[in-house]
Amino acid sequence: AAGAGDALSRLAADASSARSAVTTSATAGIRALVMSVGGVAILCYLSPQLAGATLLLVPPVAVGGRTFGRRVRLAQRDVQDKLAEASSASEWALGSLRTVRALGCERIEEDKYTQRLGSAYRAGVGVWLQQAVFEGGLSLAANASIVVVLGLGANQVLSGAMTAGELTSLLLYSANVGFSIGNLSTVYADAMKAAGATSRIFDIIDADAADTATTLSAEEAAASAALPKKKGGMVEQLMTPPALPSLLPAAREGSISEASYFVDSAAEPFVEFDQVHFRYPSRTETPILRGLDMPVPQGAFVSICGASGSGKSTIASLLMRLYDPDAGSVRIRGTSLRDVDTRALRERVTLVPQETALFSGTIRDNITYGAGRYASDEEQLAFAAELAGVEAFTGHLPKGMATAVGDKGVQLSGGQRQRIAVARAILRRPRVLLLDEATAALDLQSEARVNAALRRLQQDAGTTIISIAHRPSTIRAADEVIVLEHGRVAQRGGYDSLLADADSALNRLLRNRT
Ligand SMILES: Nc1ncnc2c1ncn2[C@@H]1O[C@H](COP(=O)(O)OP(=O)(O)OP(=O)(O)O)[C@@H](O)[C@H]1O
Ligand SMILES: [Mg+2]
Repeated sequence: AAGAGDALSRLAADASSARSAVTTSATAGIRALVMSVGGVAILCYLSPQLAGATLLLVPPVAVGGRTFGRRVRLAQRDVQDKLAEASSASEWALGSLRTVRALGCERIEEDKYTQRLGSAYRAGVGVWLQQAVFEGGLSLAANASIVVVLGLGANQVLSGAMTAGELTSLLLYSANVGFSIGNLSTVYADAMKAAGATSRIFDIIDADAADTATTLSAEEAAASAALPKKKGGMVEQLMTPPALPSLLPAAREGSISEASYFVDSAAEPFVEFDQVHFRYPSRTETPILRGLDMPVPQGAFVSICGASGSGKSTIASLLMRLYDPDAGSVRIRGTSLRDVDTRALRERVTLVPQETALFSGTIRDNITYGAGRYASDEEQLAFAAELAGVEAFTGHLPKGMATAVGDKGVQLSGGQRQRIAVARAILRRPRVLLLDEATAALDLQSEARVNAALRRLQQDAGTTIISIAHRPSTIRAADEVIVLEHGRVAQRGGYDSLLADADSALNRLLRNRT
């Protein structure tokens, strides 16, 4: 799966490699060719016998050059591949910085990059070593041919068949021929190196554009054809997910050690925004939050709504500690986030962001990304996939969870990406789950499934759920609605009671939208 980063780095590195091959190597090659042919002609004219001795050099150099050339071509291709992998890893990580940081996966990404760069480096050293050995061998052969000419020529001078002057000019020519043949081989090796590099360019150019685009849609067509058959008793199916292992043995086991950290009386605020003021560092003239007070009890299921741009995603960023507030504090269990280890925080608080960042890899890779101790637990994985409704579409794909998602998930629909992000969050078994429009791209039926899953997470695992939402169906799924206005909480309460009051901030919001 070649990603954009992969393709970009290939093009840049490969094109420069091809350019140097064409410019420097081509001229050097032509010069070496002319000099070898001309030198051999003059040698033959001066002394056919000694010319023959010099030409003995040709077969071993030709054979060595061919073998070596092939190896360099393959090795160089390998180097180029590995460089491309390294840069696509960094490109994804930098492009999805929020996701990587929110999931606490900085180290994973750093290690991935370092490791890939390391293997590119080792492959590169391999190429240079081979080249050094080959070029060393060439000089040796060229020098050996001079020694042979010198030996044979000295005999002829002693026997009077040749003058010392003739021998000197012969030597000069044979040295010239020897080195020109050597140069010719080096140029050949360079050309092979370039061929290794440029074969990647042609891979890109020749790649059948339709090829990558159609793989999944064909599978999906099959999937949607299969769907209607499953429809019977839709509502029951939605509200009572098929018998699943009741919540999570591992979670219960984990909660013993987490108890000391998180035990809390439900009455006390668990997550608390206290007089929080915030402006983005890049736009300090615009206050976003202006004295936000927002206590959320442990195990609550609340939704936050407000006009677009009212600061909902900002609240999520502050809770993940992607930023610190300018004034006031954000606390979990009474401890300011400034005093909490960010890693520990992001292990316990999981954000499903508004824009889901997937990386190229399989659906399974994407769900288990950053899942720590649950990453290799098949039962937990299947459970998370089922709850988030991932299973509902992977079940119809021939490769199931092993289906590749394409660069940044382009081979999936927005809703499918969201379901993967929700499954990823569920698998991490967070204490606080933040959803930023996480079901906005789902149809109502799929959304109802996810909402039912969230409800189970809240009830069985005691997860505190904060869901940022626009849609009434999502807002209503929570126990309590928090309405933001002007950087503060304008109102909070049950959905139905807020809706009943015609002047409520919620009604104002819903009216303004349409
Ligand atoms: N990184 C940033 N730097 C500067 N300003 C930002 C940044 N991110 C958001 N903003 C601004 O902060 C305000 C609040 O943004 P935020 O993303 O929190 O809104 P939102 O309530 O989530 O909106 P939406 O419903 O459209 O997602 C907006 O006016 C936005 O332009
Ligand atoms: Mg937002």
